[in-house]
Amino acid sequence: MTDETTVIDRYGVMGYPVSHSRSPVIHRLFALQTNQNIQYELLQVSPENLDTAIRQFQRTGGKGLNITVPHKAAVTRLVDQMSERASTAGAVNTIAIRGGEIYGDNTDGIGLLRDLDVNLGVNLEGANILILGAGGATRGIIGPLLEMQPKSLRIANRTLEKAQILADHFEKNGPITACRFNVVPVSDSYDLVINATSAGLQGAAPPYPEAAISDSTFCYDLSYGLNPTPFSVWAREQGAAQSVMGWGMLVEQAAESFRLWRGVRPDTAPVLKQMQINA
Ligand code: ATR
Repeated sequence: MTDETTVIDRYGVMGYPVSHSRSPVIHRLFALQTNQNIQYELLQVSPENLDTAIRQFQRTGGKGLNITVPHKAAVTRLVDQMSERASTAGAVNTIAIRGGEIYGDNTDGIGLLRDLDVNLGVNLEGANILILGAGGATRGIIGPLLEMQPKSLRIANRTLEKAQILADHFEKNGPITACRFNVVPVSDSYDLVINATSAGLQGAAPPYPEAAISDSTFCYDLSYGLNPTPFSVWAREQGAAQSVMGWGMLVEQAAESFRLWRGVRPDTAPVLKQMQINA
């Protein structure tokens, strides 16, 4: 008799907290669509247990992980190899375990670019871009945005020093400057304003620079939620041309992770539609 037991490849998302994550739903939809037999779990792991949890996942045959808040920076120290984009971002959001080695990648930046460029038709070449916030999320998207050759990229932050550190770090990659929220020059008009602060998570509405928004400005919030985020509401109130939440980036970064693991890129359009309907 032959043994017909199939070993199902195991994946998961590791974060703290993680119960709210949509990744299991997205990856199950991808797997169904592409006929891939995989298992995808929610793994709640506190920062002090991160190292042990990743080693255990590897030891027990796990194939890959999505890494989410607050572990993205810490995981860079636990991988054997890292892609250039993960290294530039200083953060890993995807790991693939192959032949006993842990490979770290970061698909957040490409996920945002695909959403802006392919799904939403935002032209980044020659654009004036403003990013609000200077934390890990901003760091992950600056490199890919500068590769699209914008005319200018300005980082505005509550704390100037953090924005300045990022501007100095990426200065060699393109035309990047830093300022405080409240000193975005009135004369500046932006084609694209991206909210990368975590203020919305606390329900806070920081003093976003009103002068940055005109009726031709496209506003994008990296956050997403069941209801419109505080930034997306604010942007609409300022008369922005469009105000969009980051559902598309979420699905696109997941598709890039799925491709890294399975060698096939799912069609994101039906999955994005389903996520937004169920949101
Ligand atoms: P992450 O690494 O997940 O992006 P972070 O490093 O804590 O998180 O960064 C969060 C960003 O949101 C920062 O730019 C932070 O501003 P500061 O650098 O001044 O701390 C910004 N942020 C968070 N809460 C905010 C608030 N209530 N008002 C304005 N900015 C806020």
